[in-house]
Amino acid sequence: MRQKILVTRKISDLAEEKLKKEFDVQLNPTDTPIKDDDLSKLANNFDGIVSTGWDNLGINFFEKIERKLKIISQVGVGYDNISILSAQKKKIKITNTPDVLNESVAEITILLILAASRRATEGFNLVRSYKWKNLPPDMTKTMIGNSVTGKTLGIIGMGRIGRIAAKRAKAFGMKIIYNNRNKLSKDLEDGAKYYSDINTMLPECDFLSIHTPATAETKYILNASTISLLPKHAVVINTSRGSTIDDDALIDALENKKIYAAGLDVFNNEPNLDKRYLKLDNCFVLPHIGSATHETRLAMSMMAVDNIYCYFNKKPLISEVV
Ligand code: DGY
Repeated sequence: MRQKILVTRKISDLAEEKLKKEFDVQLNPTDTPIKDDDLSKLANNFDGIVSTGWDNLGINFFEKIERKLKIISQVGVGYDNISILSAQKKKIKITNTPDVLNESVAEITILLILAASRRATEGFNLVRSYKWKNLPPDMTKTMIGNSVTGKTLGIIGMGRIGRIAAKRAKAFGMKIIYNNRNKLSKDLEDGAKYYSDINTMLPECDFLSIHTPATAETKYILNASTISLLPKHAVVINTSRGSTIDDDALIDALENKKIYAAGLDVFNNEPNLDKRYLKLDNCFVLPHIGSATHETRLAMSMMAVDNIYCYFNKKPLISEVV
């Protein structure tokens, strides 16, 4: 008998086709979000789920899971939308899709570094509002930003994505320093300087980029006290998760020029981000598109499907969370 698989949102066509060859699949071709209550009811009819970060698979979801469901294969490297503890209690496997998105998230990191330091929000608004022509030409004041070349980039979380972002930043002539739970091997460090204490690293950062997963430990890692350690010209970049930043503290720092700028792809309470960010000229924002390229989303979808295939064919999982 073929196992039944639920795919909660639209994923790449090729991955859906591959899944249908092996399993009885319920797809979501219109990509309509499934309400939390409906999702747990529905899930009880399936052996496996292909999920995304947009699905709420918290404690409440697992409480309603009665039997049958054996694996949740997340299309994404992050899984902060899933209660891992509840999954373990119910003996439900969780898999994710690391590595295949490293480059595209690193690309967005560079985009944010450049956009924030070169005042892209202001420049964009100026051109769009037809106000460019009113701008007095001034060699030293008009739309003058900060160079990236030769500057120091501090990375919090030197994992797979952090290391690729560092490599790309080095191509722009940046010097890399980092804070991580553990010091990396010389090979992986690739010339970057390690700081075991984030508080010692922050004053050295011209740019600071966050690449940690969302955990209790990393919640509000950037707060009023840590932000106060950054130089006034510092630029904050976040492509990890919104929960790593205390919005009140960052917005205050941006409004009152305690730091120079920020470039953010991720937010608390997405997609309902704190609206104050939108009023700030020195903040460049994107709608969580770190992994959003055709190539990467295809690779992520394929990997999620392959995890399902491996599980039900008793092969080693490609990327097991628990
Ligand atoms: C991930 O995979 O966790 C990304 O944030 C999704 O874009």
